[in-house]
Amino acid sequence: MQTTLLLAVTDVIRVIMINLICLLLTAGLVLQTQAVLASDDKAGEQLYKAHCASCHGLSGGMDMSKRIAPPIAGVRRHYLDSYPDRDSFVMIIADWVENPDAGKSLMPGAIRRFNIMPRLTVDRQDVEKIAAYIYQGDIEKPAGFDEHEERMHGRKHSKPGS
Ligand code: HEC
Repeated sequence: MQTTLLLAVTDVIRVIMINLICLLLTAGLVLQTQAVLASDDKAGEQLYKAHCASCHGLSGGMDMSKRIAPPIAGVRRHYLDSYPDRDSFVMIIADWVENPDAGKSLMPGAIRRFNIMPRLTVDRQDVEKIAAYIYQGDIEKPAGFDEHEERMHGRKHSKPGS
């Protein structure tokens, strides 16, 4: 009698242990995935600063006459409207940077104002990281950008799908 009770208790403990290990493994995996995604965004941010921010950054603010290119948050909004899913967003931006083609522009008004973007020599893989970084939405915006968006387009796009 006592041994069966003891066996039952050890069984219960074993099940609890297995569940606990599974839980820890899952938690570890989730944390690892988050860390990888965060480091991709970090790399994307660095690459954005190196290759795009000189034209698409904060300089000139929301005064388009003082800018040389639209703010990147404005580019993001235009592209997100037409390409809401991450993969096509990344692909279409990488295609554009590889070969800026007025026929494929989503921002013809920007071409009229600023002239077409020059072709850059950036690795496609790097541009894809930049595009993924732009997509996730935690990017620089000139002061007054959100107010301008709301006035002009009646919305704020801070995260994909919002
Ligand atoms: C030398 C300045 C310059 C740099 C550097 C630059 N751009 Fe641009 N970009 C422009 C200008 C000017 C426009 C607006 C005219 C146009 O749309 O071609 C533009 C427009 C764009 C557009 C919208 C294109 C359209 O018309 O639909 C995208 C997307 C874009 N840039 C992405 C990038 C990315 C990503 C980088 C960095 C890898 C980058 N740009 C670097 C000048 C630049």
